[in-house]
Amino acid sequence: MDLFRIDQELCNKDGICAAECPMKIIDTSKGFPRPVKGAEQFCINCGHCVAVCPTQAFSHKNLSPAQCIPLDETTLFSPEQAETFLRQRRSIRNYRKNPVGKELLEKAITIAAHAPSGHNRQPVHWQVIHDTKAVKELTTHVIDWMRWMLKEQPDRAAPLHLDLVVSGWEAGMDTVTRNAPHLIIAHGDKRDLTAHAACTIAMTWLELTLPSLGLGGCWCGFFNAAATFWPPLQEALGLPNNHASFGTMMVGHPVYTYKRIPPRNPPEISWK
Ligand SMILES: Cc1cc2nc3c(=O)[nH]c(=O)nc-3n(C[C@H](O)[C@H](O)[C@H](O)COP(=O)(O)O)c2cc1C
Repeated sequence: MDLFRIDQELCNKDGICAAECPMKIIDTSKGFPRPVKGAEQFCINCGHCVAVCPTQAFSHKNLSPAQCIPLDETTLFSPEQAETFLRQRRSIRNYRKNPVGKELLEKAITIAAHAPSGHNRQPVHWQVIHDTKAVKELTTHVIDWMRWMLKEQPDRAAPLHLDLVVSGWEAGMDTVTRNAPHLIIAHGDKRDLTAHAACTIAMTWLELTLPSLGLGGCWCGFFNAAATFWPPLQEALGLPNNHASFGTMMVGHPVYTYKRIPPRNPPEISWK
């Protein structure tokens, strides 16, 4: 089958598919859209050609118009709603004990998986530590890494106050995974140049998605640092060969709801 097929009854030759194709592999110079020579090799399967066509004339060999969810522009955020949506997001650090069902977590991850990625490679893999006991066990590895850092690299440990985290842990206070019932890890192949950014963006989307599902999250930088540097934690996680954890998030039902939005520094912008 050709890379794409055009329904000539429906196509109005507006050229939008060619204009929007990021790889410029659609030729409309001779009427109906046609793949340029070697198009197959360059197509990144982003689906823009199908999704942007106003007449549903464009079918890609891997994607028909029917497979794309119709977009109702009236349901999009207003600028005020977008601002509130983004600014109300908070890092959540107190979680209810009751676990979150796998279905709900999968729903959040499925939404986050729509985040952009370089070359549409979609290189993000997800590991969910669903078992709350396992979260605690993994956290003990983070504490061991912190003890090692305090002994071997005190100059790097000091600004992160790892001594306080460890003494807090020893006194029964968990400021690493904060008694969250679950962790979600975004990981990818270290050799893939797009993986790190894609995981960071997807994690951000996950954090933004959680409140709409009655959930909350918080980036778990300590955990992720240990997952990057501490072999016993890496072994316990058992990520695939050549994979690195590029982001870890605590997830659960929040105990508290925020009543106000705290201010942040104004952006530093330089114009040229
Ligand atoms: C990469 C990254 C790592 C973070 N690691 C931690 C962490 O280990 N523990 C924690 O409690 N918060 C962590 N946070 C949350 C920040 O402290 C939080 O984003 C910041 O204080 C601003 O608060 P807000 O997210 O509610 O706006 C992290 C945030 C980011 C972006």
